[in-house]
Amino acid sequence: MTIQNSPPCASPGININLGRAAHTVAKALDYVGVDDQCHGRRVGLMTHRTAHFLGWDRETRHFALIAVMLHDCGVSSTSTHKKLAAEIEWKGANDHCVRGGGFLGGFVPFSAYADVVLFHHTRWNELPDTMDDRAKQIANLIFLMDRLDVMRAQFLIDHPSYGVLHNRHLLVDNLSPYIGVLFAPDLFNAMNKAILKDSFWLELEDEFLDEAIFETLSFCDHSSILSFTNLLSLGEMISQIVDAKSPFTHFHSVRVADLTYEVTGLLGYAAERRQLLRLAGLLHDIGKLRTPDEILEKPGSLTETEHDIMLRHPLDSKMVLTGLFPGTPIGRWASHHHEKLNGSGYPYGWSADQIDEETRVLALCDIFQALCQKRPYRERLQVDEVLAIMTRMTEAGELDPVIFHLITENGERLYHVAIREGV
Ligand SMILES: [Fe+2]
Ligand SMILES: [Fe+2]
Ligand SMILES: [Fe+2]
Repeated sequence: MTIQNSPPCASPGININLGRAAHTVAKALDYVGVDDQCHGRRVGLMTHRTAHFLGWDRETRHFALIAVMLHDCGVSSTSTHKKLAAEIEWKGANDHCVRGGGFLGGFVPFSAYADVVLFHHTRWNELPDTMDDRAKQIANLIFLMDRLDVMRAQFLIDHPSYGVLHNRHLLVDNLSPYIGVLFAPDLFNAMNKAILKDSFWLELEDEFLDEAIFETLSFCDHSSILSFTNLLSLGEMISQIVDAKSPFTHFHSVRVADLTYEVTGLLGYAAERRQLLRLAGLLHDIGKLRTPDEILEKPGSLTETEHDIMLRHPLDSKMVLTGLFPGTPIGRWASHHHEKLNGSGYPYGWSADQIDEETRVLALCDIFQALCQKRPYRERLQVDEVLAIMTRMTEAGELDPVIFHLITENGERLYHVAIREGV
């Protein structure tokens, strides 16, 4: 039997459209709030449309659109999201702003957005003097549009979507008591003009939303060649979002990435292929953003329904990663990390001849790390216990015997990589 390797990537980096990347981050964040989909994208579009009435130039409007699509990247627990969706001002809101600003600051191509994200729940009259006027306006416009989207969402709980057109002033009236305190008066005036356009509301509907955003983004070139170092820091930023969702998955993805890097080194992979697989390791579980916290953190075994919910995360990972890294095998590798060589895996139930070597490495590293890690339902296993379980799985035809042999030979060292604390 021959195992296919994916072709190596020959470029010094990968061409990424940062507008599309921000859109994918927004889409991935939708997974956190199970009921309130598309929030980041809707607020992005509303902000961009309102910015027209403020006379902002295209570059600034696009900056605001991208910033908004990233604005909630610090929200990663479902409970945080529920509070954000229910109240105009909320005491703990600042936490997700600080976390989001920190995440963005760590990834150079998005670091310019860190400040406005940091202050997107700050009252207009409390924005710090260290910000320039335009940054203050962008941060405050995000706040205003964000709250308008919450008003719209609440209205839609017991009204059909077309009802918004006739009630648009009602939605805005809910926010007017806060003019001059929470929101800058000129931003409020611009919003009052923007909402008069029917398209402002209609484009927020699911079937028009993405097309409207992509059409808008196409007026500027947002592509950028990212070095592998920058790609990894994008991956790290996103994996922090995933890991912050549950303390029990904390560092799992980082350690899986480290393990894939070690094992591909033992296998003699070229540098770029190692980096690509490391990135897939970092992000393989991003689909778990959609898995409710109660399931991820459940101390006992899962019910059938909970198990079924869990089973979809590889495909959710694929959707996010093919959007973030188009033209690379990263999404494919990540979506196959629960496949088994004997066809007993999920979600495709593929057999050995359909599973490439990189996926086999990732699958082994994922299992190895998961067994090494303390989980809600059990303590950390020792290296010999981990290898004994994996030996049984290999003998059952689930895992690649050659790569597993390599892991066994380096068991002690890899165990320390898998359990290492810190960055
Ligand atoms: Fe938000
Ligand atoms: Fe997984
Ligand atoms: Fe995993």
